[in-house]
Amino acid sequence: MNSKKFNIDYTWIDSFWDKIEKKLSVVASQVETPFPYGIEDGKYVPRHMYQWTNGFWPGMMWLMYIATKDEKYKAIAEKVEIALDEALDDFDGLHHDVGFMWLTSAVANYRITDNEKSKNRGRHVATILAGRFNPIGKYIRAWNKWPEDDIDNHSGWAIIDCMMNIQLLYWASKVDKDPRFKFIADAHAHTAMKNFVREDGSTNHIVIFDPETGEFLDNPTGQGYASGSCWSRGNSWALYGFTLCYLNTGNAEYLDTAKKVADYFISHVGEDDLPKCDFDQPAEPDIRDSAASAIATCGLIELAKAVSDTESGKYINAAMKLLKGLEKSCNFSLNDQSIVQNGTGMYHNTDRNVPIIYSDYFLMEALLKLKGNDILFW
Ligand code: GLY
Repeated sequence: MNSKKFNIDYTWIDSFWDKIEKKLSVVASQVETPFPYGIEDGKYVPRHMYQWTNGFWPGMMWLMYIATKDEKYKAIAEKVEIALDEALDDFDGLHHDVGFMWLTSAVANYRITDNEKSKNRGRHVATILAGRFNPIGKYIRAWNKWPEDDIDNHSGWAIIDCMMNIQLLYWASKVDKDPRFKFIADAHAHTAMKNFVREDGSTNHIVIFDPETGEFLDNPTGQGYASGSCWSRGNSWALYGFTLCYLNTGNAEYLDTAKKVADYFISHVGEDDLPKCDFDQPAEPDIRDSAASAIATCGLIELAKAVSDTESGKYINAAMKLLKGLEKSCNFSLNDQSIVQNGTGMYHNTDRNVPIIYSDYFLMEALLKLKGNDILFW
């Protein structure tokens, strides 16, 4: 481990991480499902085989392995990676989120251990993701035909979350020395810069294009509050996603976009401990999203590492402020398998202010970055 040093309280970072490591050293072997999502009666429970979050538990185990070198975490991560193969059996089940699912499982395994089978899993799903590219509109299509629809009404849909999925394509281009994947990732990222990121750094969640012409048709409500509002987790996907695009390509346009989004995110969290679920939501009900905070923290740390020393203070101080807020949301008790509370799946649903696995994953990723881990899973 080796990383840029900042003028921050590393002792506090170490003690925060130690509490997580201590909890997971007990909880990891008690988790029964390979695909934890939420919590019922203190225990992690799954959703379904194609749930976009199914890579986060192996991702957490790989982060624990990096931090401790304890083989028990590697064994759990490898077991889940094999279980995830079942998702490859049903073409209709798979969607745009193959990046989330396999970057933190198989590709993480390959990056850490050079495992060839894991590398091939990553190449396989990168090819599936590339196959979702609409070359007319230059976007990666989100979701598949919805079960309630007679015909496929979603071929023109794209979402900001894919800024994370396209990192799989940059990886595939590098391992295969094949520019096709990078071409698609760059094309999608440019479409997102133009159609999702607004001038003030706020973001659309969903954009609907005419799939035959590429014309922008609409930006409906997604997981946020309303059409045209700024869903904070979507904003954090843009912040971290464009930062990663810069790290994976060196293209300064991506860095400028990431900074614009970061400035918006930082100013809209303000003095709060956690971001609102949607920066434009009404004052009541008070719905927060710890995941948006943890994802943005990862992006802010990488931004602070990428920019000059004169610029980095703003980003690292914002990351530290978010981490302090996240610590207040943590549950270190062994009676509950989750760590971070106050996550929200979507504004217009019942999973509000609850623990969800991705808050845990991104908090761990952020803390390990500051502890010097430079193995990036994205
Ligand atoms: N689908 C990714 C998210 O809910 O943020």
